[in-house]
Amino acid sequence: MKTEDINSVVDRVLISEEEIRRKVAEVGARISRDYAGKEPLIVAVLSGSFIFASDLVRAITIPVGISFIYASSYGEGSESTGRVDIRTGKGGLDAEGRDVIIVEDIVDTGRTLSAVRDFLIEKGAKSVEICTFLDKPARRVVPVDVRYMCFDIPNEFVVGYGLDYAYKYRQLPFVGVLKPEVYEEN
Ligand code: XMP
Ligand code: MG
Repeated sequence: MKTEDINSVVDRVLISEEEIRRKVAEVGARISRDYAGKEPLIVAVLSGSFIFASDLVRAITIPVGISFIYASSYGEGSESTGRVDIRTGKGGLDAEGRDVIIVEDIVDTGRTLSAVRDFLIEKGAKSVEICTFLDKPARRVVPVDVRYMCFDIPNEFVVGYGLDYAYKYRQLPFVGVLKPEVYEEN
């Protein structure tokens, strides 16, 4: 299928822009209350969380630090490979003594977040909590304690609001499911 407009490959909107806006504001307010008097370090897991993280930090009213790490367990397709590759930018990541909030796009099997969490504890974080935009609880293989969650979704592959399929469609402002023929082509 030749894609001139990415909206044409969307089968169904699962979570609308308006629902996202409201929920992210709510979670930002909760974090601001829970961490009042502290200065947590937000660690956004790239690439998928870049849109969620940027909306979330603007909904937080207390001072926060913001760092990024790269974690990937997925290749081109939609199935987890099980191996998690974690990278930091130049100079590493200073989490020593910090109250860290990991910001992730989606928790699926739990493998990525569990590895990222261990990595941050090893870096000397004082506390580590998880904030995820989406959760697919039915798919969990490794248990992870999720403190903040925006939406739980059924076991369907979704795109948009940072989430990709084959490195595409991250820019969709809502969460949606693609037409089956899009996946069949790959
Ligand atoms: P695990 O299995 O480690 O997976 O919890 C987390 C990572 O898997 C990706 N993932 C998805 N990406 N649509 C996506 O675009 C989905 O429905 C989906 N489910 C899992 C994602 O990269 C996440 O960080
Ligand atoms: Mg991801």
